Amino acid sequence: MSKPIVYITRCLPEDVVEPYRKHFQIDMWEYEDRPVDRNTLREKAAQADGLLTVLTEQVDDELLEQCKNLKIVANMAVGFDNIDVDAASKRNISVTNTPDVLTETTADLTFALMMATARRLVEASSYVKEGKWQNWSPLLLAGTDIHHKKIGIVGMGRIGEAVARRASGFSMDILYHNRSRKKEAEDELGATYRSLEALLEEADYVVCLTPHTPETEKMFDAEAFARMKKDAIFINASRGMTVDEDALIQALKTGEIAAAGLDVFAEEPIDADHPLLQMDNVVCLPHIGSATKETRYKMMELALENIKLVLSGSEPKTPVE
Ligand code: DGY
Repeated sequence: MSKPIVYITRCLPEDVVEPYRKHFQIDMWEYEDRPVDRNTLREKAAQADGLLTVLTEQVDDELLEQCKNLKIVANMAVGFDNIDVDAASKRNISVTNTPDVLTETTADLTFALMMATARRLVEASSYVKEGKWQNWSPLLLAGTDIHHKKIGIVGMGRIGEAVARRASGFSMDILYHNRSRKKEAEDELGATYRSLEALLEEADYVVCLTPHTPETEKMFDAEAFARMKKDAIFINASRGMTVDEDALIQALKTGEIAAAGLDVFAEEPIDADHPLLQMDNVVCLPHIGSATKETRYKMMELALENIKLVLSGSEPKTPVE
């Protein structure tokens, strides 16, 4: 019997893929650093039993319509807003993501981004490297404290809780907003639930970790920024589409908020001329929340494992609910 066909939309390291070659016939896009073009994706997906995708691929109704053999789309990310899950379910195609394995790594990056923004680390590093450092002076590159401040976490999922654990180590006061109350986070981390409005008004650091859904699209809009404190710092490590970027730019320009740390953008990669990139009070990263070698390997392995399970007739480890 011929092996099922699996198409992988990025070139993954051979040591990760190799153990799966005995289970499937694996075909991969040739580049690691460039997304597959839509025509190739259409053509490959139409033949495949399993697809391993990353967040640059739009897996929509139009694409799925041509996939007569497809049984699983395994997204190598915890987020899955690039996949039309309803369109997949109505065709009995499983959709999986890679939660858990990236939680601590993404929380590390979120906290690092918050610290880098508050303590102006990127500016300070450039200052030294550009030979501008002449003297010690009392307010040279003075930032703002993190310890004992109030963090407001919007989206208290696994990553939100992991960020809260870090915040607790810095003696921060932890507020959170979530669709539902998280009793465990309240008991174990001393986190306090707030309505979104109250959290925005009280927090020194507003940290967005909510997934992108129709309900959260542009939830950080002009009204939300206007509610924040003038010295608030906004951090986004979930999806850029949760933010109205024009409103954010305006809030930063007019001093409605103090600074922002952004790992994600409405359009990625962000245009090099984008106004957010011209601002000293904005730290920008290229969507590297889960980017450590250890974690990225675990994400690839989990995605492949899910494909193996589904193609052998079992339940996947991490289905998207
Ligand atoms: C995710 O997993 O959703 C991240 O944004 C990609 O690393």
